[in-house]
Amino acid sequence: MIGCICLNPCIDRTVEIEEFTYGGMNRILSWREDGCGKGVNVALVARTLGMDSLCAGFLFEDNGALIAERLRAAGAGEECVWLPGKVRTNLKVFDRKNARITEINEAGAFIGEKEREKMVEKVRDLARRCDTLVFTGSLPPGCPADFYKTLIESAKGCRCVLDAEGEKLTRGMEARPYLIKPNQYELELRVGRKLETLPEIKEAAMRCAREGIAVVAVSMGGDGALITDGETCYYAPVVPVKVRSTVGAGDSMVAGFLHGLSLGEDLAGVFRRGVAAGTAAVTTEGTQLMELEDYEAMLSRVAIEEI
Ligand SMILES: Nc1ncnc2c1ncn2[C@@H]1O[C@H](COP(=O)(O)OP(=O)(O)OP(=O)(O)O)[C@@H](O)[C@H]1O
Ligand SMILES: [Mg+2]
Repeated sequence: MIGCICLNPCIDRTVEIEEFTYGGMNRILSWREDGCGKGVNVALVARTLGMDSLCAGFLFEDNGALIAERLRAAGAGEECVWLPGKVRTNLKVFDRKNARITEINEAGAFIGEKEREKMVEKVRDLARRCDTLVFTGSLPPGCPADFYKTLIESAKGCRCVLDAEGEKLTRGMEARPYLIKPNQYELELRVGRKLETLPEIKEAAMRCAREGIAVVAVSMGGDGALITDGETCYYAPVVPVKVRSTVGAGDSMVAGFLHGLSLGEDLAGVFRRGVAAGTAAVTTEGTQLMELEDYEAMLSRVAIEEI
C-alpha cells in the first residue's frame, strides 16, 4: 500500500473567458472544478499503475467531498483528517483568445497544534500499514517548515519519499527519507547556488545522497532527468514527445519510481519507470493525469546512460 500525504489539497476552479479584461467585467463561457493536490495526483497515478494507494491529509467538510469522491472513483483509499471549513480554491482564468492562464490562489485554512498532532498520529498509524509513504506539496498555514521532518520521523520503519521545495526539503532531509525528487530549481535552492552543467547537477545530487538519502532523483523538465544512490549515477535525456501539458509530470514521475520499487527493480529500472511516467504525463491535455498505455509504450523509448 502506498500512502500519499497531501496536507494542503485544493479545488482547482478553471473558468474560460473569451479575452481577459484587467479591471473590467469578464463573462464565464464554461467552468469546471477538480479536486487536486500533489499527494492526490501520486495516489491516482499509483492506482493507474496497478498499485494499492490511499491519500491522507487535511480535508474540510464544506467541499472536501469533491476530492474524496475523485479518490474513491479511482479505487484509491481516503483517510484524511476532516476539519470544519472549506478546502481552498485556486482560480484559473483561461483566456481563450490569447491562450493564457491567470492564476489566483488561496493559501488554505490555518492548521493548529491539535490538528497537527492528529496528523502525526495518522502518519504513525499509516506507517504500520503502508510499504511506502509519500510526502509531497505545499504546507498549509500553521504548519512549520520542519513539519515533513516531524512526520517522516514519526513513520519509523516505513520507506518515505519526499518531494518538496525549499525549507520543507532541507529540513525534511534531516529525517533521512529513502528517496527525494527535487527538480533542478529545488536542488539549486538546496545547495544554495545555480547549477549550470550536468556534471554540476550530478555532483550536487550525489552529495545529497551521501547525506544518507538512499536515492536522489533530479528532474530537469525538458532537459531530462538523473538518478543516483551516491555511488552510481544515471542520466536519461528527454524523450521527444508532443508536449500538451506539464501539469503533474513530477507527481507521475514519483509514482513511476514507486512502481519500480514495488517490482523490486534496480536503480536503472526504477529510473526508467519514473521517466516513462513523467513523459507519459506531458502527453495528456490540461490537468489530466498519465494514461497506462502511454506509460507502457514509453518504457522502451527511455534511454538510460551511466554518467
Ligand atoms: N517538456 C518535456 N518533454 C518531455 N518530458 C518532460 C517535459 N517536461 C517534463 N518532462 C518529464 O517529466 C519529468 C518531471 O518533470 P519536471 O522536471 O518538470 O517536474 P517538476 O518540476 O517536479 O513538476 P511538478 O510541477 O509536477 O512538480 C521530467 O524529468 C521528464 O521526464
Ligand atoms: Mg515537483
